[in-house]
Amino acid sequence: MCGIIGVVGRTDTLETLLQGLSRLEYRGYDSAGVALSGPGTTWRARAAAGTESVAALRAECVDAPRGFRTGLGHTRWATHGAPEALNAHPHLDCSGSVAIIHNGIIENHAEIREDLVGRGHVFTSVTDSEVLAHLIEEARKAGEDLSEAVRTSLLRVRGAFALAVLDATEPDVIVAARRISPLIVGTAPGVSYLASDVPAILDQAKTFYAVEDDQVVRLGPEGFRALDLEGAPVRLRQLSIDWDLETAEKGGFEDFMAKEIAEQPEALRATLLDRHRRDGAISFDEMGVSDEELRAVKRVVLVAAGTSNHAAQVAKYAIERWARVSVEVDISSEYRYRDPIVEVGTLVIGVSQSGETIDTIQATREAKRRGARVLAVTNIVDSSLAREADAVIYTRAGLEVSVASTKAFVAQVAALELFALRLAQLRATMPERDVEALYRGLQAVGAQVERALSRREEVAEVARALFGARDFFYLGRHVGFPTALEGALKLKELTYLHAEGYPAGELKHGPLALIEPGVVVVAVATDPAMHEKILSNLAEVKARGASVVVVATDDDESIAAVADFVLRVPGTEPLFAPMVDIIPLQLFAYLTARALGRNVDRPRNLAKTVTVE
Ligand code: G6P
Repeated sequence: MCGIIGVVGRTDTLETLLQGLSRLEYRGYDSAGVALSGPGTTWRARAAAGTESVAALRAECVDAPRGFRTGLGHTRWATHGAPEALNAHPHLDCSGSVAIIHNGIIENHAEIREDLVGRGHVFTSVTDSEVLAHLIEEARKAGEDLSEAVRTSLLRVRGAFALAVLDATEPDVIVAARRISPLIVGTAPGVSYLASDVPAILDQAKTFYAVEDDQVVRLGPEGFRALDLEGAPVRLRQLSIDWDLETAEKGGFEDFMAKEIAEQPEALRATLLDRHRRDGAISFDEMGVSDEELRAVKRVVLVAAGTSNHAAQVAKYAIERWARVSVEVDISSEYRYRDPIVEVGTLVIGVSQSGETIDTIQATREAKRRGARVLAVTNIVDSSLAREADAVIYTRAGLEVSVASTKAFVAQVAALELFALRLAQLRATMPERDVEALYRGLQAVGAQVERALSRREEVAEVARALFGARDFFYLGRHVGFPTALEGALKLKELTYLHAEGYPAGELKHGPLALIEPGVVVVAVATDPAMHEKILSNLAEVKARGASVVVVATDDDESIAAVADFVLRVPGTEPLFAPMVDIIPLQLFAYLTARALGRNVDRPRNLAKTVTVE
């Protein structure tokens, strides 16, 4: 996700921006830029040099005008358009006077762009963001002041934004606005700041304020004024921030993992934004495989490692159910050595958060060599997997720092399930209204995840009660099975305790021999169709003395009879449930690991990205 900083009122504005951008580098980015405005002039510099972009930008700034008091800075995490300098922010209007920086996604950018091009505007990037500069230009031409121009322009856009704008014809002013994407304002005597994240302005601002959804803020050296999108004045909520830089980078959480667990609703919303055309078709702008090719797909093979493999296993159920195509899931490191069969119509999907896992890259290379079309589902724009694949769908979970994956999992499941719905549309395997209902249901999962996250204290109680247990079996049926695998993986990675995931029906074929008092069985039992069978599996383990923990929906009254502990979650469509049900399992693993004093962000022996076979 992009980083934003703005300053108005300092004489060393450029240096303040560059230092702020350095402090946003930890979030991950691929390019960076600044714009400064002084009387009658806007000056801009941009650089795209991957994680060296802020250093490269500094070199571009040697000729910057001095003494300009108003400026914007941006680190970009590409979504629309390659990570190249021409797509880096700030973007300018046609006159070169208005400069904008944006974090988020403008969903209706294509139609706005078409309209603006028709009115003579010249675009210089392929980003969705640039429409904002030209919309504001139009409003300025119509005589609106900068904050009015931003406000009326935003009435035309759908999607998510943290936006900041300057205009040389109205110097000493920045106008900022927010919907969904985070934005804060900071003040110090004679200076105002804005930022996407606290670290950017932590050591500069004295007082911090939160900008809420659909608020527009006009900042000057003397302070700020805030309006809602209807133009009525609003007060910004003051934040109490007494963090050091390290805490600020973690968003005030104890570690990156807690931050990333909490970011899951946002990761879901970002991944699902801008995927629906006006005619009802689900669309992936970035994808690059034609509808005809997708219609002709006869078999799907998903290859992935670790958590990504569990997301792929969930996707198998969704693709088969909705699009009626047969799906195989393979561990990436196994696929290439088993002389895989690739027939005409085979689509191989490589799923990888980093896009750099060597086994997954090698598996997709092997598939391509044998004639398959390859689709990458990855979180990192222009990663090796993305570059080598024929097509790509980006999850937009933002940078994941913690070694054990959390938000990437829910984003992968969402992206793959959306893809399953697209396949179903193209193959006409479901009535359009059912696809539409599922699409709407998927949009609601973010709120269900939020509710599951709000129950952290209930999970903590269970974690406390089971503290000291050393053996865990995680069970599930249908998509509850990959959820169980992922829950067990989280516990194993974070706590170093013994945890295994099993299909509940396999229990009798081995693991039951290991069940005895002291063993904990964690079951995922949220699917009504599987409920009775899971209950009878649990009766078997309970009779042998295991402690039983069950992830169950709020309305499940029968579960208390077999469970020693219940982790409640909101109910959802069963194929969406892994995104919700995994939340208490992530929290359980996290809280147990913290109680054991483990380094949750960096478990021993593990790496975030595995680039050796
Ligand atoms: C490592 C990480 C896991 C991750 C797996 C696959 O094992 O520790 O968190 O799930 O690699 O990584 P990828 O980037 O391909 O999703």
